Amino acid sequence: MSSAVGLAGLTLFSDPSSAAKKPESLPPQVGDRFQITKGPLKGELLRPGLLKIGEAPVIGFPFAPEDNVLRRKNRLNRLLMIELDPADMEDETRERSANGVLVYSAICTHRGCTIASWKAEEQHFRCHCHLSEFAPLDNARPLTGPAKKPLAMVPATVDEEGFVVATAEFTRKPGAAKK
Ligand code: FES
Repeated sequence: MSSAVGLAGLTLFSDPSSAAKKPESLPPQVGDRFQITKGPLKGELLRPGLLKIGEAPVIGFPFAPEDNVLRRKNRLNRLLMIELDPADMEDETRERSANGVLVYSAICTHRGCTIASWKAEEQHFRCHCHLSEFAPLDNARPLTGPAKKPLAMVPATVDEEGFVVATAEFTRKPGAAKK
């Protein structure tokens, strides 16, 4: 079941300065796909079934298919992409997932470190800087440590070609922003 529906009522972040930015620096846009930029799957576009359920997230950036542009000239666009069991997700998280694939900002909401750890047993992201942990099954809300805000998320669905595609911009400003 795709998540193209069920997004009514979300407060979605929209950057008013976006118009002045180059495509490779823009935040994720509606219709963007996601390209993996590290590891054995480097270069692949994200789609359900590419990742193993419950395994560590892969790193990537939004990809504009019409312009053939990878939006990686903006550190705040670095993403954690993971596939988890939709049955384990909170309802809103499931609606924002693309058949179980979740796309989150990799930038910690405490002081902006890049999140790089995965606690497989608990299914938590962990920031190594001050050990904040976040729950990807529940909109990446903070669980422990000094971070008080959830990670930004890119709501997504699956397009007609089977790729994960953004249905909205970030749910909040990524990183340590106040909003
Ligand atoms: S920057 Fe992530 S916990 Fe402090």
